[in-house]
Amino acid sequence: MGTNARIAERMSRLGTETAFSVSLEAREFACKGKKIYPFHLGDMNIRTPKKIIDAARKAMEDGKTGYCPSAGIPELREALAKDMSSSRGIKLTAKNVSIQMGGKPVIMKFVMAFMNPGDEVLYPNPGYPIYESQIRFHGGIVKPYGFKMIDKGFSLDMEQLETLVTPKTKLFIFNNYHNPMGAESDPLEMKRIADFCKRHDLLVLSDEAYFDITYDGKPKSIVSYPGMAERTLILYTFSKKFAMTGWRLGAAVGPEWMIEQINRLNVNDESCSNHFIQWAAVEALKNTQKETQQILDTLKKRRDLACKMLSTIKGIRVFKPNSTFYIFPDVTEAMRNLGFNDVEKFRRFILETTGVSFCTRRHFGTPLDDEKHEFIRLAYSGIDLKDIREGLAKMKSAIENPEISKRWVSEKSTKP
Ligand SMILES: Cc1ncc(COP(=O)(O)O)c(C=O)c1O
Repeated sequence: MGTNARIAERMSRLGTETAFSVSLEAREFACKGKKIYPFHLGDMNIRTPKKIIDAARKAMEDGKTGYCPSAGIPELREALAKDMSSSRGIKLTAKNVSIQMGGKPVIMKFVMAFMNPGDEVLYPNPGYPIYESQIRFHGGIVKPYGFKMIDKGFSLDMEQLETLVTPKTKLFIFNNYHNPMGAESDPLEMKRIADFCKRHDLLVLSDEAYFDITYDGKPKSIVSYPGMAERTLILYTFSKKFAMTGWRLGAAVGPEWMIEQINRLNVNDESCSNHFIQWAAVEALKNTQKETQQILDTLKKRRDLACKMLSTIKGIRVFKPNSTFYIFPDVTEAMRNLGFNDVEKFRRFILETTGVSFCTRRHFGTPLDDEKHEFIRLAYSGIDLKDIREGLAKMKSAIENPEISKRWVSEKSTKP
């Protein structure tokens, strides 16, 4: 039997995070000696605060190197419950917290624990691609929902959402402070979403990966609306707020009945999350207010510069998101001006002529039928101010000088 025939059928339904392929491509370019302006991946070039690194080192030296409880060390579960009780406005205890190796595993565990094959799951599109991948992998039916453009950015298409519900719809995935759009629901929209979930008796995954990356005002969680805490699992991560993407630590936070099931998956999968890293996370939660504010200040300066520069580029429409570290400009007109009708070609053109590397809307799900605009996503978490300035200036001249694109297109068509 050939090796392909030996691969389980479900593997054909597993997707991927296509942003990583853009990274590979950018790396290939860099290997050829070309300068890359990395706006493509939501990784951070900001160092983890030293206090957290010191706490991890101390924990290792103190012998926190063996297994620990599957749900996480009690000190971390308690510290996170306390922190999130105040930031989410609900009462949480350690029993509501299950520590994970990053935020991402919460998506798979939520789907595995609460979706049966054949159940329908509503999830955002554009959106984080792992939702769709996990739903399909575990035999669910994908029900993507979209967004509308409004003056101040994007809002959920509530009318469309209602039309998607059937008796088979069981789960709703919500990513306020949204990747890739930076969309943020106002209190009225949050209330409508909460009413919607209760009316249709849906369990909710609230992906709050960017909850703490909000620049003005206080973020709000869907669990603060009456009747929501008992049906919602929150995806929490240490990755962004504390600049700890590579440490791999996060948590599932929710009602005890949900957390008990998630803990059973922990035992069967990783046994426990990295022991000494959990001690570093306790330090992160308790003693890094100044450092996390510095991280936010750094990101805010980058956002302001990038948005200001993008808004001067002819044919690009941009709004300034109040959260996340992503910008999601509408490039429909810029593409039209240059004669591109394929956003992938437009992306390659900018990459090859300027070194500016970004993802497009198509890296975040298949566009829905009624979408008429083309978007790109720029992440500014891994690029400093100097390179933002330099890269976007190059992008501006490539977009505003049709000769450059004409030359690029003709070179492409003459190459074998
Ligand atoms: C919306 C969203 N959810 C979850 C995650 C996963 O976070 P982590 O790196 O903590 O696994 C990410 C990471 O980029 C994300 O953008």
